[in-house]
Amino acid sequence: MGNKKTYYITTPIYYPSDKLHIGHSYTTVAADAAARFKRQQGYDVMFLTGTDEHGQKIQRKAEEKGITPKQFVDEVVADIRELWKLLDISNDIFIRTTDKQHEEVVQKIFKKLYDQGDIYKSEYEGWYCTPCESFWTERQLVDRKCPDCGREVELTKEESYFFKLSKYQDRLIQYIEDNPDFIQPQSRQNEMLNNFLRPGLDDLCVSRTSFKWGVPVTFDEKHVVYVWIDALSNYISALGYLSEDDSNFKKYWPADVHLVGKEIVRFHTIIWPIMLMALDLPLPKQVFGHGWLILEGGKMSKSKGNVVDPVILAEKYGVDPIRYFLLREVPFGSDGVYSEEALVNRLNADLANDLGNLLSRTVTMVEKYFDGVLPVSEDVLEPVDQDLRKLAGDLPKKAEDLMDKLLFSNALAEIFKVIGRANKYIDETMPWALAKDESKKGRLGTVLYNLTETLRYAAVLLTPFMPNTPAKIFAQLGIVDEKYTTLESLESFGTLPAGIKLKRGDIIFPRVEFEKEAALEEIAPKAEVKKAEQKEESKPEITIDDFAKIDFRVAKVISCEKVEKADKLLKLQLEVGDEIRQVVSGIAKTYKPEDLVGKYVVVVANLKPVKLRGIESKGMILAASNGELLSIVAPIAEMPSGSEVR
Ligand code: ME8
Ligand code: MG
Repeated sequence: MGNKKTYYITTPIYYPSDKLHIGHSYTTVAADAAARFKRQQGYDVMFLTGTDEHGQKIQRKAEEKGITPKQFVDEVVADIRELWKLLDISNDIFIRTTDKQHEEVVQKIFKKLYDQGDIYKSEYEGWYCTPCESFWTERQLVDRKCPDCGREVELTKEESYFFKLSKYQDRLIQYIEDNPDFIQPQSRQNEMLNNFLRPGLDDLCVSRTSFKWGVPVTFDEKHVVYVWIDALSNYISALGYLSEDDSNFKKYWPADVHLVGKEIVRFHTIIWPIMLMALDLPLPKQVFGHGWLILEGGKMSKSKGNVVDPVILAEKYGVDPIRYFLLREVPFGSDGVYSEEALVNRLNADLANDLGNLLSRTVTMVEKYFDGVLPVSEDVLEPVDQDLRKLAGDLPKKAEDLMDKLLFSNALAEIFKVIGRANKYIDETMPWALAKDESKKGRLGTVLYNLTETLRYAAVLLTPFMPNTPAKIFAQLGIVDEKYTTLESLESFGTLPAGIKLKRGDIIFPRVEFEKEAALEEIAPKAEVKKAEQKEESKPEITIDDFAKIDFRVAKVISCEKVEKADKLLKLQLEVGDEIRQVVSGIAKTYKPEDLVGKYVVVVANLKPVKLRGIESKGMILAASNGELLSIVAPIAEMPSGSEVR
């Protein structure tokens, strides 16, 4: 018992500042699937999630509402916990940075680093972005705004404590080079080395005096600890590091993997490992930076809020389909586009059609031809049988290998390949034809046995992804002995005993209709859309040479603001390769500045510059439009800015 291998996995701790959307659920659902898979494999798993509750942003939000920061976070945190419960998240600990134990650990860490000279007092002058909780030097600003989010920054000068990142930079570079698995995917590792570490690290300002909502520095009470030092410490404070009972820390640290979104890889692979080095602790084995779920039209706005509210989606489509969609649709690591239509398509194609039909066809036939009693498989096998058995038999190993690399989508694709193969197997073996000939009864039994056993394999392997579905499948297959629901029981194909009683149940995934018309109507009145369709006129034919005259380029939105007194216009600074250019675009009715910063668009780069409302515009952003509807045209995958579009 005591010798079980351990597996420690974490999600980031979430800011309880706004309602969580489907993008947030993505990280947590992925971590949950990984945790469940490891438990299935027999590991002693520690799965941590929680909330990151301090900082100026929270303090301001609370002030706006006229309540204390603690009252404010308590409410939001309660919602977050509810959401994880709804989505069947199986975390072992939920940490809050306002937990007393956590705060004390942060204070001890800060003091320890100060006592050993890694934290020192000095003066800070710089620019602070409150929403990002980040300091920037003058040089780092873009258009005098935050280079990460494009919003206003404030000049701040104050007495501060600093953390000697520079002292550890060479050790960290060496560590990353010696441990190629530490930062995944590989591309993020190169980015950290080339953009941050090799150019050299500045010491980090790690305390603030301008607001109060944080962990006080014990030996200098007007300072509170910088939120990222506070937040990152959660990964060890939750285990009892520097606390009375540190048994979990001894057992689970170092973490096997920190799952994080790509925008916070930097904090997890530079600040965090240096903190650990300074504390003389081992580093986590891996930090995995996943991509973003981009919402349709780049929007996460409140007006469209219900579309991306995971609670509403789960009520509408069920928890397992949402989890399946998140893990299947987007290869972990890349960005992906979320749309409700894509979700419905996945649900219908993979779950209702492939998996749902395989189950109901199989159970119906066993009921019809064998009174529901699972027949034996004969010893003589045909090539089709061998093919199916081999594919299913090899599946557990394949899935385990892919899950070890956190390749959720690929693992699901392998499982559904087998499900697809089994459906084809029915068409090839034609059980209804075998049933007509009494002498083929043995053969019919073999076919139905193989189908049932394949379904058992699929159900066991789907457990980490869709925790509620396997039980429904086992119930219809008549599998009551839990011995046949474990990963271990997939050792060799054919262990399910004949004689169990199958029983048809409800359809596990009813097909759903996607109401596209209704969705459109919400955005624009029907009449508008019709009118736009009618006015569609064709343009004269052009040659490829005409087309080649236009220089289309991928551009990244660096910053964006509204043009005063022009309710349609936005002024954007775009990065096109290594050039920054200003473009004015009539898209303000659909997009807010904060929807666009960091996003990629396509511009006509060689368009003659014009002045709009007195503001210079160099180029034009491409957008599809239809009546009131408007959508920016963007590359599906992330492409470097400056890439040509042809
Ligand atoms: O960053 N698609 O918290 P957070 C995919 N408190 N992932 C998304 C996403 C989207 N559209 N939107 C958000 C913080 N996320 C810090 C972490 S850890 C010591 C401190 C992911 O609430 C995001 O990438 O802003 C991040 O990994 C997580 O949600 C929490 O984001
Ligand atoms: Mg964030």
